[in-house]
Amino acid sequence: MREFIFKANKAITSPNINLKDLPGSCGRLDLVCRCVSDSLFLSHDIRRDTVFYSVLCGPPNPPVCIKFVGSELRKVSPDERNIAIFIKKALKKFLETEDKDSWIESTPGIYVRKIGFKDLIIEKMEEGKNLYYLHKNGESIEKVKIKDNPVFILGDHIGLSEEDEKFLEGKAIKVSLSPLELHANHCIVIIHNILDKL
Ligand SMILES: C[S@@+](CC[C@H](N)C(=O)[O-])C[C@H]1O[C@@H](n2cnc3c(N)ncnc32)[C@H](O)[C@@H]1O
Repeated sequence: MREFIFKANKAITSPNINLKDLPGSCGRLDLVCRCVSDSLFLSHDIRRDTVFYSVLCGPPNPPVCIKFVGSELRKVSPDERNIAIFIKKALKKFLETEDKDSWIESTPGIYVRKIGFKDLIIEKMEEGKNLYYLHKNGESIEKVKIKDNPVFILGDHIGLSEEDEKFLEGKAIKVSLSPLELHANHCIVIIHNILDKL
């Protein structure tokens, strides 16, 4: 199983999503959608071995975590607008549900829950997963052995805070994919490609 955790610092946490303005009023929800698409979609197929999480940390009700499970996804297509429609449905379901601390299934393969970035990381450690924090200044990927059941952690256009980075020390191996600053969704594509070829 491959997992990705994407922290979306400004992404909207209400279903009040304007599909015509994902980058602006939705707090760079376009980045979340692109990461969902690149994590889970192949040409005419879905990566059934992949789970993608995004912790949405924007107003009005942060944090809200959305989980996409490749093996269960139905009817979602890879374009940003379509993915945003499913995120909107998930946030609506979240608003209407009382028990927000457990995963709530919104549509097939898409779940929503009240859990923050650090707690999600702790859960993954308790599940025995191997954590990798993707960062330009990490150890070169060529020198790192990616173990089974990896979880890759990524920041958005702002990146992770100093506090988050301190929290990850000793929990996740910091890995670099390139000397250049890349988009998070491009990092996901590179990781998939590396693992596909193993
Ligand atoms: C657009 S970058 C973030 C830029 C942000 N200004 C910063 O300083 O972190 C988005 C995310 O992609 C990942 N990333 C970007 N370049 C990378 C690289 N060369 N190697 C590994 N991960 C990278 C990191 O997780 C980063 O938080």
